[in-house]
Amino acid sequence: MTGTLEIRGLGRSFGGLKALEDISFTLEPGEILGIIGPNGAGKTTLFNTISGVYKPSAGAVSLDGRDISGLRPDQIGRLGIGRTFQSTTVFPETTVRETLERAQSFLSAYSPMAWLRSFGHRAAGHSVDRVLERIGLDRMADAEASSLAYGFQKILGIGMALVQAPHLLLMDEPAAGLNSSEKIEVTDLIRGIRDEYGIGILLVEHDMKMVMGLCDRVKVISYGRQVAIGTPEEIRNDPDVIDAYLGRDHELA
Ligand SMILES: Nc1ncnc2c1ncn2[C@@H]1O[C@H](COP(=O)(O)OP(=O)(O)O)[C@@H](O)[C@H]1O
Ligand SMILES: [Mg+2]
Repeated sequence: MTGTLEIRGLGRSFGGLKALEDISFTLEPGEILGIIGPNGAGKTTLFNTISGVYKPSAGAVSLDGRDISGLRPDQIGRLGIGRTFQSTTVFPETTVRETLERAQSFLSAYSPMAWLRSFGHRAAGHSVDRVLERIGLDRMADAEASSLAYGFQKILGIGMALVQAPHLLLMDEPAAGLNSSEKIEVTDLIRGIRDEYGIGILLVEHDMKMVMGLCDRVKVISYGRQVAIGTPEEIRNDPDVIDAYLGRDHELA
């Protein structure tokens, strides 16, 4: 298992609306691939279709050559596709450490194989202690999660995905609602996760400075269709992208 995600001709319709049409790309282990596009472009639908919340209307999603289209979200999670959410959700009266312990036990709860596998993962750096250190919340381990500032709660959300030892990670707007110093911290954290665990990361994010600074490649979608895919440099200079999304006034770092 290496964690190569392959999307081929993926489509998803809602009634007559084609929210996604003919989307194809491959995410390699260790790669950070950004997905950008205007509101309503289909970014969240793409994540929901990969993670099993929606079934594809066309095309296929495969992980390490295995077709996973149409599996349930919990099955896809167990196969190693982790996900972080735009909004923060913490359990009431639960410490930071307990939150991570719960997240770790979620996936193995109904699967003896996943439970057995989890021993290997913990040895490989996904123990609650190691993840606490990785995300920089070790000093707050015994604080109640709901008492943390918003930025720390978002970082805890990343930790909840990490303790599940994902083979790749889908991140939905990790910088939304953060101030500029928190954005820098989260950018460093994402890069550190990629470097330490060597996993691929699919990143949906509106902050262009973060996307361009962090991603190896960027894919632009608009009205559910691909506009372009390339390095940040190629994307910045692509006239179709400038038309569809970036615009002349858009500040790119
Ligand atoms: N569950 C749904 N039912 C009907 N339409 C949906 C649903 N989810 C998304 N859409 C539509 O699909 C399009 C893409 O939405 P979305 O994936 O949320 O875009 P983005 O995340 O890029 O802003 C939008 O036109 C949206 O209204
Ligand atoms: Mg969205």
